[in-house]
This record gives sequence, C-alpha cells and structure tokens, in this order.
Amino acid sequence: MAKIFIKTYGCQMNERDSEQVTRMLMQRGHTITAREEEAEVVLLNTCSVRDLAEQKALGKMGMLRTLSRDRPIVYGFLGCMAQSRGSTLLDEVPHLDLVVGTQKFHRVADYVDEAIERKWTARFNDARYSVVDVEEEENSQSTIRDHVLGGRQVTAFVSIMQGCNMHCTFCIVPYTRGHERSRPIPEIVGEVKTLVDKGVKEVTLLGQIVNLYGRHEFATVKGKSPFVQLLEALQEVAGLERIRFTSPHPIGFRTDLIESFGRLTKLAEHIHLPLQSGSNRILKAMHRTYTAEKFISLVERIRSVTPNVAITTDIIVGYPGETEEDYARTREVVERVGFDNAFVFKYSKRKGTPAAKIEQQLPDSVKQVRNRDLLELVNSWAKRRSERFIGREVEILCEGPSKTNPTRLAGRTRENKIVVFEGAPQHVGALLKIRIVRSTGYTLYGEPISH
Ligand code: 5AD
Repeated sequence: MAKIFIKTYGCQMNERDSEQVTRMLMQRGHTITAREEEAEVVLLNTCSVRDLAEQKALGKMGMLRTLSRDRPIVYGFLGCMAQSRGSTLLDEVPHLDLVVGTQKFHRVADYVDEAIERKWTARFNDARYSVVDVEEEENSQSTIRDHVLGGRQVTAFVSIMQGCNMHCTFCIVPYTRGHERSRPIPEIVGEVKTLVDKGVKEVTLLGQIVNLYGRHEFATVKGKSPFVQLLEALQEVAGLERIRFTSPHPIGFRTDLIESFGRLTKLAEHIHLPLQSGSNRILKAMHRTYTAEKFISLVERIRSVTPNVAITTDIIVGYPGETEEDYARTREVVERVGFDNAFVFKYSKRKGTPAAKIEQQLPDSVKQVRNRDLLELVNSWAKRRSERFIGREVEILCEGPSKTNPTRLAGRTRENKIVVFEGAPQHVGALLKIRIVRSTGYTLYGEPISH
C-alpha cells in the first residue's frame, strides 16, 4: 500500500475527477497524503485551458523528481494535459510513468498498482513504467460517480456530462474532453440521493456546457429541455436543499430554463454565464454565435424572473485582432450588466485551436494593460453587488470554519456570496438565517438571527 499525493489544477470538473480517483485508490487500501515529501506516488491532475496551467504542472512534476533520490516513486500526469499531449509527455519528462487521459480516470488505480508492483520490485530506482492511456471510452461520462465526503460535508459536485461540441475558436476543451456525452437522469438522481443520505444539502451540477445536457441523447418534452427535466427531477429529491450548476452557455439558455428559476425553489439564485467578449466582431470570430445585445437581453430576462440573482462571468482580453474599440465594447457590457464577479483571462494561444492560427496575435503588454483595467472595473462592481446585501436577512448554508479565520464559521448565500459569522458548533452543516452587517468586497459579515 502506498502513500499517494494528488494535486489538482484547473476547474471544478478536475476537482471532481480527482475525487473519483482518490476514492478508487482509497478503496484499494492506499492512503492519500497532503505532504508531498512523504509521497510514494505523485499524481498531478492537469489543466490545459491556458498555457500557465500547463507550465505550473510541468514545473511541479520537475521539482518532485528529487523525491525519487532515495526510493522509487511512481509519477503520473492525469486529465486534460495528459489527454492533449499524450505520449510526448514521456519524452519531455524523463521520470514520468503514467499519462492517463480524461476518459480513463477509472483506470488510474489499476495503473498505479501495476506501476508500484513493477517499480518496487525493480532493482534500480530509475526503472520506468511507461503507460499512456488516452483512448476514448464509451460511457466514460458515467464513471465519475463516487464521492469522498469529509465529516459533515454538506456540498458536493456532480458530473452530469462530459465534453463539448461548441468549438469556440480559442478553446482547447473539445480536444481534451471530447464530444458531448450525458448521463441518464435516473443515474444522476440516484447519485444525488446517495449524497443526500450522507448529509449533503447542496449539489453543483457540472458540465463543460451544462445547459445543453442531454441534447443528443434525450428528447425535449413539452417544451422542456433535458436539462430542465433533470432540474425538475432533482427538485423532488427530499432533503436536498439547493441546486447549482456550472457552466452554461448563453446559447441554449432558453425560456424553459429561465422560468425554472421562478418555479424550482431549490435552484439557487446564481448563474455563471460566460460572456468572453462584449464586441460582436470578436464574439463572431470566437464562434460564440450570440451578440452583446442578445447577452444583455438574456441577463434582463433572467433578472425579470429572479431579481436577486447573482450573475458572474468569464471574459477573455487580448483575443487575436482585438482592437481598443473591441475592448471598449467589453467594458461597456461589463458596465451595463454589473456582474457580481468575473474571471478575467488574458488570451492564451492553445496549440491546435483555430485562434492559434490567426496572425494578429497581440503582445502580452497589451493583454496585460486590458487585464488590469478590466479587473479594476470588475472589482468595483463586485464590491457594489456585495454591498447590496448589507442590512438584509439571508439564508446561508454553513460549510464549516472560515478559511481566513478558523474561529469563525463561513457559509454561502443562495447567490453564492461567502458569509463569515460568529457561530456555534451545531451551526456547521445547517441552513441559517443571518443578518448581514458589513462587506469587504467579496466577503460578507453577519450575525445569526435567533427566532
Ligand atoms: N485563453 C484564455 N482564456 C481561455 N479560456 C478558455 N480558453 C482560453 C484561452 N485560450 C477561458 C474562458 C473560459 C474559461 C474557463 O477559461 O473564459 O470560459
């Protein structure tokens, strides 16, 4: 049995995949360690969405090589970068043993066991076990289904689909995650019920393009998309209190889904709705197939059903050919919508994507200036959007001690705002009413209301 160090880069989907791997390794009797210096197996679950994420994982793997000075170590890259780079990683990283792609997470425990067997019995520490498994696998979307719940954990991620067929020109995801494949509704409901039986009260449904869930597999019924049908089925799960999802695409965010927010009481009032750009010219070049006007009108329709909704977004600055004029349009949409928060990314050229072939790539200095400027604007809006809660009574789901001050408790409102408060041990895992007294931009502070 080995001590295994797993580090995850990137999105919630990757966190979720790592959880599945962790669970399978624990079932084999391995222990998971947070201390890399005592690890016998090192697994890095990687992200490819920007170059920086890849460089971080490559750098980490390089650094961890020293662990194998006094004992044989199994090294593996998992997930998106493993998928997109495949066996070339073995050439780049001489001590690497495993390269396991995004449709093969359920095979990791087997490969680890085989690698341990080989390396621990080898006479030389540097004997290498090279396995590359980046094949496609039918129904791999249904293999991410087991959880590792910490004590009194009340929130969980649930992967409902894999892959993306949208082919935004900047994005590597279609190449790392494959085409869209969805799990059947009963299977997802079953997983959620199991979670609820173990104390979970809030689930976040994950998919690269979550509102398009099931569009190839399942029919629209009475004007309701498969995604809305799934939300309705989850609304009926007794004991489940909140449903979240991430991330939807503005395309396919139709009336049936907008109306769900008025109808389904468990659907939390937060939507992460990636804008990417506010320039119609750039949106078109990105193959995003909506306009800034359409995006704004979608936000208005959502807000007319759910006035309190928090809307967050992703924005890319410095897409090839983006002019000052284009960037000004992005600023305008940000001002117009007033996002609760936004992730701002400098465009990163991804090998194999259509945008990488465009000639007018912008210098980093331009991206840097726009990035900083937009962050400032976004932050000022985030502050305003948080301050609107001061004086209000909100419902929070208490997740445990605050990360910044463990003597206090923290939870989230339905709008996904973090609230810190002085609480009692029995509050952990509970839904509470809190009065908000102040805000520091992103974090709200409040006091429990006793009835
Ligand atoms: N460069 C910069 N940001 C990117 N994203 C996706 N691809 C790239 C890229 N090549 C951003 C998008 C997406 C988020 C997850 O990452 O904004 O919504």
